[in-house]
Amino acid sequence: MPWQGDGWYRKTFDAKDEDQGKVVYIKFDGIMSSPKIYVNGQLAGQWDYGYSTFYLDVTDFLNFGEKNTIAVYVDTRKHGSRWYPGTGMYRKVEMMITDKVHQEIWGSYITTPVVKEAYAEMRVLTNIRNRDSNDQQVTVEAILISPDGHEIQNFRTREKKVPANGELEFDSWMTVTRPGLWDLENPVLFTLRTNIVVNGKVVDSNETSFGFRTFKFTANDGFFLNGKHVQIKGVNLHHDHGPLGAAFNKRAMQRQIEIMKEMGCNAIRTSHNICAPELVELCDEMGMLVFNEAFDKYDNKADITPETDFYEFGERTIKNFVMRDRNSPSVIIWSVGNEMGDIQGNSNYGLQRLAAMVGFVKKYDITRPVTMACDQNQNAHWRHFDYYDIHAYNYAQRWLPARTMDPSKSVVISESASTVSTRGYYDLTIPEDFLNPTEQRSSSTYIENIPKSDTSSGQEGTRRRNVGSLPEGGFSFRRGGDENARTQVSSYDVEAPRWAEVCDDDFMWQENDSYLAGEFVWTGFDYLGEPTPIFTARSSYFGIVDLCGMPKDRYFLYQGHWRPDYDMVHILPHWNWLGKEGQIVPVFVYTNGDEAELFLNGKSLGKRAKKPRSNVSKERYRLMWLDVVYEPGELKAVAYKEGKVIGEAVVKTAGEPYSIKLTPDRSYIDATGDDLSYIMVEAYDKGGNLCPLAENMVNFAIDGPGEVVAVGNGNPQSLEPYVANYRKLFFGKAMLILRSKENEDGRIEVIATSDGLKTAKIFVTTKQ
Ligand code: GAL
Repeated sequence: MPWQGDGWYRKTFDAKDEDQGKVVYIKFDGIMSSPKIYVNGQLAGQWDYGYSTFYLDVTDFLNFGEKNTIAVYVDTRKHGSRWYPGTGMYRKVEMMITDKVHQEIWGSYITTPVVKEAYAEMRVLTNIRNRDSNDQQVTVEAILISPDGHEIQNFRTREKKVPANGELEFDSWMTVTRPGLWDLENPVLFTLRTNIVVNGKVVDSNETSFGFRTFKFTANDGFFLNGKHVQIKGVNLHHDHGPLGAAFNKRAMQRQIEIMKEMGCNAIRTSHNICAPELVELCDEMGMLVFNEAFDKYDNKADITPETDFYEFGERTIKNFVMRDRNSPSVIIWSVGNEMGDIQGNSNYGLQRLAAMVGFVKKYDITRPVTMACDQNQNAHWRHFDYYDIHAYNYAQRWLPARTMDPSKSVVISESASTVSTRGYYDLTIPEDFLNPTEQRSSSTYIENIPKSDTSSGQEGTRRRNVGSLPEGGFSFRRGGDENARTQVSSYDVEAPRWAEVCDDDFMWQENDSYLAGEFVWTGFDYLGEPTPIFTARSSYFGIVDLCGMPKDRYFLYQGHWRPDYDMVHILPHWNWLGKEGQIVPVFVYTNGDEAELFLNGKSLGKRAKKPRSNVSKERYRLMWLDVVYEPGELKAVAYKEGKVIGEAVVKTAGEPYSIKLTPDRSYIDATGDDLSYIMVEAYDKGGNLCPLAENMVNFAIDGPGEVVAVGNGNPQSLEPYVANYRKLFFGKAMLILRSKENEDGRIEVIATSDGLKTAKIFVTTKQ
């Protein structure tokens, strides 16, 4: 997908005569990249970093009472990225018209120095700007509004002089009795309204959402939210929405979070860039923690060029990053970068630059820890961790040297697993080094020199029992040799790149070492670009769900572990192995139970139990039958917890595809022009069984106030266009993404046809 180039956007608008004398700002939530903004032909401002929110005061460039033209030039030719960054104006743009005396953008900083069940103390710092040429006498009125919209209390500062063309900070304090606390199950959000009063008149009013909660990272016991231990069960998410590309869509983001939450995930790392503000807002509303990361490296991935003044760049970028999100209760860590080799190895004044970046964060927020995500355990001796608050490391227990040198800091696994797989594809050869991991990978230098004292559970030698299947530059063909073997990766979830591990290892490490606050899996969703491990693909294989959000089997491995109270059982693979009769087809069962019994065509193949104390990680979390001799029919797993049946999962051998089935995730959407319904497209046989190998081409016809915005099927290798009204099924499934039209109510009829298959028809209703 091409993204390098340059281009222009233009828009003409009226600046109303009555706004003469006001101040006009334009805020951009992200322009990829290096934008120059012209108003009526004059350069009004420019920016560099494509993921950064920034704003301009365009007042002096406008002609009030006339038509005005804004033109934005974007240029990604110098931008660097190993994933798909998108190009151009891909996030929200807002115009804000204010009085000359007004609150600075993001100018309310709400902190809650004391939070108890009985009461909380809150402090509001409000920065007021005066663009008038006279001094102004100003009062700030802070009004606290409850989650159900009632004004609870208020605080009026005394009147103070804000100097002409200057600014001043106002301080308000309130004591709130019995504040409802923001937590993951019940994310209670309050609103603070700040009125700016001049001569008895409210000249500006702003609302800021926030919550009351406490959290801490402890040296030895991990993370606590409101005094309760919470294991961080996080995922990394890149900024794209799969088939929708990089243009931000709130519903697509909300759905991503819903799918992750259903799995038991409670945290998101915004890898590796400033996210759309709506992501943080959604996490506030939905009860998700945020590892808020600003950068990958300090280079062209951040649109830093040799001409960039690093410190000037750092301060203004971090200022906007932190001020924008610092009132959000979901944000628990700031990260100033990912895997920065020069910083970790202190080349080119690395530690000095790190100190500056951390300092900028702390200048704008004093309430949260700062970290950077590291990957070089061999460089821990530079003690870069002395500059920040928490150890964050990617993969392979690389935190061990740093943690040994500074055990006062908690550890977050900022990237875990990196297991790779393709939804629906199974290679029947389970790699020997998955089953019997004895060797550490020869390519790894990471685990060397780990002091024995910090191997915690005496498990050295078992720590890295990952697959190691991907030698430098390629893929080891450990595969069964079917026609997909060279392009897809087995959904038995037994493979990870040489630098990483399978999911089970991270589960085990966290169970063994209580100082591990939690993990962020690489990644929650497949994403565009970085097609590891098969470089002919156009998207990654890392996701727990595919590019369309359809769960891979791994989803249920996580769900079984992350949601211990949610009874579930999942069985794999599918049971359509024509030609493999009499041969071995391994069967895995994922459950939150402790054991399961497997039945093939009614005959028991025995019970297997998890081994919670095993040093072989997968034995703790997966139930595996490696000796099942295939015969078509019905395969069933019955799961037990403490001796009681908690559920069963069944796969049946399907016949030929007979009909198409359409299942929308939402049958009612808003007529906003950007609300979405994700419609799952599947092939079923005559008996109502999902056809797991179906590859039929499906055509879509839409009638009514909606449109197909994109299609997909989760095949990382597919080069079919996303914007189309057809899609081939991939392992039985595809996805149609339907969008409403602005202000058009009605029923959208969706018809799916495929040669030789029974047609499917559904309706999605849109309403204003
Ligand atoms: C990490 C990196 C990620 C991604 C990942 C793939 O080293 O931080 O951005 O590239 O590897 O495993």
